[in-house]
Amino acid sequence: MSQIEIQHLYKSYRNRRHHRRGPNDYDPGEEIPVLEDVNLCVENGEMVCILGPSGCGKSTLLRMVAGFDRQTSGEILIDGQPVTGPTSDNIFVFQQSGLLPWMTVWQNVELGLRRLTDQAEKTERIQEAISLVDLEGAETLYPHQLSGGMKRRAELARALVVNPKILIMDEPFTGLDFFTHLRMREEVVNMHEFIRKTTLIVTHDIDDALLMGDRIVVMSGRPSHVKLEKVLDFPHPRNLAKHPELNSLREEIFFMLGVSDAV
Ligand SMILES: Nc1ncnc2c1ncn2[C@@H]1O[C@H](COP(=O)(O)OP(=O)(O)OP(=O)(O)O)[C@@H](O)[C@H]1O
Ligand SMILES: [Mg+2]
Repeated sequence: MSQIEIQHLYKSYRNRRHHRRGPNDYDPGEEIPVLEDVNLCVENGEMVCILGPSGCGKSTLLRMVAGFDRQTSGEILIDGQPVTGPTSDNIFVFQQSGLLPWMTVWQNVELGLRRLTDQAEKTERIQEAISLVDLEGAETLYPHQLSGGMKRRAELARALVVNPKILIMDEPFTGLDFFTHLRMREEVVNMHEFIRKTTLIVTHDIDDALLMGDRIVVMSGRPSHVKLEKVLDFPHPRNLAKHPELNSLREEIFFMLGVSDAV
């Protein structure tokens, strides 16, 4: 049994606009199909990277796996159980930094363990999460004292401290400068090699997906379904120049996403 099983998933939203904007727009109140028959299985410990055109429903899909949104039809099973709402077993690392500005790194990470009463265990788990994301020494700093990359690490520590079954990241490197992006990518791969937690990552960056994922999934435009799914059985650290198969897959995906002329 796969850890996550997404079966015949459909999602539509009701159009809230009061006017049609053009011939291809939907009528007010009409259902807008976003996901149409999405099928996907994710194995325990696997890192799956999801790519797709903007607005195709990637975040919607992640939100439903995390239990924050409900599908129109179809099923999402985690360890064989249907997802009925958010639980701290699966956790989201949000697109934008959600650190509380009046709390230090330590206190922000501690938030995930509010309900834990054993102080010694709490301290140990916070320390472990902070060290996993390489933020030792920054425990007493406030978010405004952190660089963009450090903020992202603190966010990740906050997710890891809960020891979730599944880690869900929606565009985790957005807004980082080029070098910080590369460094964070490398660190997420190292961390994954170390903790082997089931991870779903949505990214717009094809290279991120090719260099990180155990599997890559490309979604079609809306209404969206899985257009391509490939296992990437290449050791880390990966290098596109060393693997012609990855390079041709890269071209195929650019073509699929309709931007082949930009490569
Ligand atoms: N709560 C909502 N109510 C109505 N429509 C919504 C809602 N959430 C998302 N949508 C619509 O569903 C579609 C998919 O949105 P979603 O945010 O999942 O796309 P995405 O693939 O994550 O896009 P991006 O790559 O730009 O982040 C969009 O057309 C969006 O307008
Ligand atoms: Mg999104």
